[in-house]
Amino acid sequence: MRILSGILVVYLISTLLFGQLIYVARGRFHYHKRRGLSDPPPPPPPAVTANPPQVPSDPYPNPNPDPAPGDSDSGCIFDVTSFGAVGDGSCDDTAAFKDAWKAACAVESSVVLAPEGGVFKITSTIFSGPCKPGLVFQLDGVLMPPDGPEEWPEKDSKSQWLVFYRLDGFTFAGKGTVEGNGQKWWDLPCKPHRGPDGSSSSEPCVSPTMIRFFMSNNIEVGGLRIQNSPQFHMKFDGCEGVSINDIQISSPKLSPNTDGIHLGNTRSVAIHNSVVSNGDDCISIGTGCSDIDIQGVTCGPSHGISIGSLGVHNSQACVSNITVRNTVIRDSDNGLRVKTWQGGTGSVSNLLFENIQMENVLNCIIVDQYYCQSKECRNETSAVRVFDVQYRNIKGTYDVRSAPIHFACSDTVACTNITMSEVELLPEEGELVDDPFCWNAYGTQETLTIPPIDCLLDGSPVVEEGYNSNPGC
Ligand SMILES: *[C@@H]1O[C@H](CO)[C@@H](O)[C@H](O)[C@H]1NC(C)=O
Ligand SMILES: *[C@@H]1O[C@H](CO)[C@@H](O)[C@H](O)[C@H]1NC(C)=O
Ligand SMILES: *[C@@H]1O[C@H](CO)[C@@H](O)[C@H](O)[C@H]1NC(C)=O
Repeated sequence: MRILSGILVVYLISTLLFGQLIYVARGRFHYHKRRGLSDPPPPPPPAVTANPPQVPSDPYPNPNPDPAPGDSDSGCIFDVTSFGAVGDGSCDDTAAFKDAWKAACAVESSVVLAPEGGVFKITSTIFSGPCKPGLVFQLDGVLMPPDGPEEWPEKDSKSQWLVFYRLDGFTFAGKGTVEGNGQKWWDLPCKPHRGPDGSSSSEPCVSPTMIRFFMSNNIEVGGLRIQNSPQFHMKFDGCEGVSINDIQISSPKLSPNTDGIHLGNTRSVAIHNSVVSNGDDCISIGTGCSDIDIQGVTCGPSHGISIGSLGVHNSQACVSNITVRNTVIRDSDNGLRVKTWQGGTGSVSNLLFENIQMENVLNCIIVDQYYCQSKECRNETSAVRVFDVQYRNIKGTYDVRSAPIHFACSDTVACTNITMSEVELLPEEGELVDDPFCWNAYGTQETLTIPPIDCLLDGSPVVEEGYNSNPGC
């Protein structure tokens, strides 16, 4: 059993509107070596104090220095500086990180340590498994990629930088910073509005995802600051069992495509007690995701929490069982969004949004089944079906440039079983111009919504004979 304990400095953000507390914790992560059955129980965790002493960067003061028999080479620390990393912010430390990884990967419960004080620069690298269980990548210093596209080695992938692949039971944590050096990527003329006179070009514009977890299970990410990514900050695809806790993601409001955390084809995810400010979606959830639990997250500025876009090029999409709770969204272009293209199949279902505080958010609650990037999308007869969606205790303020509640469901495939309870949204300033919008949306208001919404249809739609309502998920 791996024991994870943290000393928490707890900031309390009291929410004026629903009088409850949201805890945003900045924690310290300590990893203890895998314990044998004969080991004594661990010492009790240190008491949480308002002002904890700074703990030295030793990742695990070992309470039991005598290794159990047959356990003698487990729990080692592989410090990248012992493998030749310089950490001066300019030398290329890639080889040292690869060597430290390779050594640690072969030993159960070991730690790759990038120590405090070092600024390590590495090029695009795939840290792959399988490795012995319990591997920890502990970043206490700064880790960064080459500075922009010109410094990026020609032979390296420009679509990804740190990749963790085929791992099971792996932790990426520490009190350090992953610094993406994104500015030169954001300024590329192929980015939206970065062309001559603010034009947007349609040419492909590849920039690296900063941290990618691919085909990995039982992953923990904690404590880190992750900032200024050239593109998405963190992306998970083909993963199962992900726990993200106490991280801070930040990039400027105008940095293009810098999604905070993107999930695709990934199941059983917890994202807790984290803060994201960036230039795109705070958290985005793509097809093939289920059992996602988001709690105690603060987003903003950002583009909110987004499910989609789904069903592009007539594809099938399946997303289910997503919970977002005790979360603040501020100064964002969207709040809680579901977006699907015309012509897809599949479904988005069992969504619960509860205890969400909105502050100056454009499109607080939006389902858009007419998502289209080219303005040339035709209406089609199939769509990803949206059903069983609950909005509970969603309060705060919206940006009056558009209606705070917008359900634009497909003409042919209605949204059904939408529940609204204690949804109370007021203008941040000025007056609402448009009323809440619904199109082909069925549901109930358990309490009267503010602003009033009278366009939600009662009951269920009449389904035409021959229509296949089975979304196949
Ligand atoms: C929904 O997801 C949560 C994890 O977020 C899980 O604990 C729960 O069992 C799931 N519910 C269903 C019905 O699958
Ligand atoms: C698609 O359907 C919607 C809803 O009926 C309608 O408002 C919109 O104008 C249609 N778009 C096109 C391109 O036909
Ligand atoms: C409506 O959705 C809720 C959960 O969101 C579910 O418990 C309920 O069974 C659904 N009702 C129908 C009629 O499908």
